[in-house]
Amino acid sequence: MKISIINGPNLNMLGAREPEIYGDLTLERINNEIIEYAGKYGYVVEFFQSNIEGEIINKIHSLNNSADFIIINPGAYTHTSVAIYDALKSVSVKSIEVHLSNLHSRAEEFRKKCLTTGACLGQISGFGYKSYLLAIDAVYLSTTK
Ligand code: DQA
Repeated sequence: MKISIINGPNLNMLGAREPEIYGDLTLERINNEIIEYAGKYGYVVEFFQSNIEGEIINKIHSLNNSADFIIINPGAYTHTSVAIYDALKSVSVKSIEVHLSNLHSRAEEFRKKCLTTGACLGQISGFGYKSYLLAIDAVYLSTTK
């Protein structure tokens, strides 16, 4: 099982960025936690982060027939990007969307509107960096009886 983890804009700033909301782990530390957790299932993970919408779309296209699953945190593009929604729909690879924060308990109303989620099997939101680990569990549970 090869899983591609895609992170969108501003997630390279984790650790420094609003730690009271997103926690104090850097993206590199989170990725190391994911590698260790996924290893328990024998899954291979690879990582991609970009602040640029088109690069995320190109990455998704490149995964067609070359990854078994996508775990994606589109960041703010969750709330705006029809293009990422369409990209996720255009490949045969299944996706799971994750968010560190609970979008539905955030102060801003715009975070409750999620455009990209409809192209995914489901969304995991609100468990800090463990949202990514729960997504690994979701890969396992959705691929076994
Ligand atoms: C986020 C939530 C988004 O609303 C926000 O724009 C982010 C991070 C999260 O992981 O909680 O960049 O995706």
